[in-house]
Amino acid sequence: MMTVPAFRARKGSPQPLVVLTACDAMTTAAAEAAGVDALLVGDSLGMVELGYESTLPVTMDDMVHHTKAVGRRRREALLIADMPWLSYHLGAKAAVENAARFVREAGVDAVKIEGGAKRLEVIRALLDAEIPVMGHLGLTPQSVLKMGGYKVQARTADAAAALIDDAIAIAEAGVFSIVLEGIPSTLSGRVTASVAVPTIGIGAGPDCDGQVLVIHDMLGMLPGGAPKFVRRYADLHATATDAIRRWADDVRGKTFPSSDESYG
Ligand code: KIV
Repeated sequence: MMTVPAFRARKGSPQPLVVLTACDAMTTAAAEAAGVDALLVGDSLGMVELGYESTLPVTMDDMVHHTKAVGRRRREALLIADMPWLSYHLGAKAAVENAARFVREAGVDAVKIEGGAKRLEVIRALLDAEIPVMGHLGLTPQSVLKMGGYKVQARTADAAAALIDDAIAIAEAGVFSIVLEGIPSTLSGRVTASVAVPTIGIGAGPDCDGQVLVIHDMLGMLPGGAPKFVRRYADLHATATDAIRRWADDVRGKTFPSSDESYG
């Protein structure tokens, strides 16, 4: 079973860490069977499962509901839950109470929060409550209104330097790993070389200690295109649509169910 110390110890390992989102028993079973190192119940589930336009409407109850399902089916992988918007912005006490729900109700190993040095107080409070924390820098989807859309971040020298400072600050505060999302590859390499904890990239190029993708994106579970950084390994939406269409044809043509598919 993967643990937080074992995950952290993979910093700089020649074998990159493999992290994948999961949101229910089905996605967890597939990811576990494929041997991923960690399962992230990302608040992206608000967009890919719940049909919202952003992650901002996602609540603690939404996240706990899905994380419990993942927790029931998890066997070996590290289990990390995303703290949704406003669950850690209203003070350290509220953040600890919300994070504790993931531990108590869903059995997570760690929580993830977005943001750099401005989150130090919350990070320290969570660690003080013995809850391991993963950081998340760069394109932080909960800042979509401030960013004005989902755009690659830290393209200027000043913004890149600020992001490196943020990474060093949260790493020194004790996060066990940092997600780097939507930043130039060269910057990811600089961050990875600057911190003593594993960096996990998404849309951040190859120079990270590991990679994460949203399972719905890499399996093509939804119609429509995918962002540039996604590699599609399946087209499950097309496969499912074809299967349902063939079944519907069989029902309408009265060839389903057959006598073999019926009780005597
Ligand atoms: O919500 C999410 O799925 C995430 C990953 C993209 C890192 O935060």
